[in-house]
Amino acid sequence: MHRTLLLSALSALPIILAEPSSKRGLVYVPSQEHPQDDNIWTQAGSDLTWYYNYGAEPSAPFLSSNLEFVPMLWGASDDRVGTAFYDTVKAQIDAGANINYVLGFNEPDGDPSTGGSQIPVDLAAATWIREIEPLRELGVKLGAPATTGAPNGFTWLQNFFEECAGRCNPDIMPVHWYGNFEGLASHVGQKMAAWPNMTIWVTEYADANNGLEASQKFYNQSAEWFDRMENITHYSYFGSFRSDVSNVGPNAAMLTQDGELTDIGSWYLGGAATNNIPEAKGAAGKTAVLAGWSLIVAFAGIWSIL
Ligand SMILES: *[C@@H]1O[C@H](CO)[C@@H](O)[C@H](O)[C@H]1NC(C)=O
Ligand SMILES: *[C@@H]1O[C@H](CO)[C@@H](O)[C@H](O)[C@H]1NC(C)=O
Ligand SMILES: *[C@@H]1O[C@H](CO)[C@@H](O)[C@H](O)[C@H]1NC(C)=O
Repeated sequence: MHRTLLLSALSALPIILAEPSSKRGLVYVPSQEHPQDDNIWTQAGSDLTWYYNYGAEPSAPFLSSNLEFVPMLWGASDDRVGTAFYDTVKAQIDAGANINYVLGFNEPDGDPSTGGSQIPVDLAAATWIREIEPLRELGVKLGAPATTGAPNGFTWLQNFFEECAGRCNPDIMPVHWYGNFEGLASHVGQKMAAWPNMTIWVTEYADANNGLEASQKFYNQSAEWFDRMENITHYSYFGSFRSDVSNVGPNAAMLTQDGELTDIGSWYLGGAATNNIPEAKGAAGKTAVLAGWSLIVAFAGIWSIL
């Protein structure tokens, strides 16, 4: 989509002011070292209304919280032929869980080294048809595969839908974005234009590896925009971890190295600035490995590919 086209499309949208934001959710990244950090995400009165954890089962710390769990089928493999995901979600619904949505594959166009599930489209389509599509009959709304922010994500999705031949019918188009606000808005606009029958969920985003002020400005701009855009119904910032283990740079983290909310973390939960400054891990430290993350390096030349 051309930039001018995109901007005029965006400015024509109705303005809805939502405060506090009920669209806000958590990409839950558990900390084995600091399980007490969970208390921050489950505290009563925050703006968070939902969460996902890249898995099919809810996380223990959230079982008594009000946050709505959104199951995800993270990946697919040739030797996985049953309906384990479908069965797990159905069992939760049968037991009375409030499950209204599921998410499809995590970054199927992405490399495992950055958290991608790297699924060939034919396997993805077959798995979708067997495990995900039947959940429609239970009244569950379906999230399309969440591709990376790279251009080949679009190709992957087009090939996926071709392979499905009408048998994959998602209601939601997820977006992952690591980069600046203009790139984010452009990417969301492209997905809206390509799949106008779906609502948008921005399920991972941050201005990775930027300075503190730029990261905060990006955060403010994107939250304000998401809240205003009618067809962006859910978003979840990346992310919910300490700055010293962040793989998207310390300034994008919602917690400091000491486990206190940063300004961004506090704003995201609906609170005031804390003035806590996130710090990176010291050069001597080991790099922690977080499960399920993904990182697409911001491509600064976004306009050149549009
Ligand atoms: C939305 O459109 C896509 C084609 O782009 C289609 O495959 C899908 O079934 C549609 N979703 C719904 C819920 O109708
Ligand atoms: C919002 O999504 C609905 C379908 O979910 C679609 O009919 C409508 O055109 C979309 N609006 C905009 C402004 O994209
Ligand atoms: C971000 O928004 C907060 C208010 O929510 C404001 O205090 C702060 O100055 C803003 N920061 C930037 C860099 O825009």
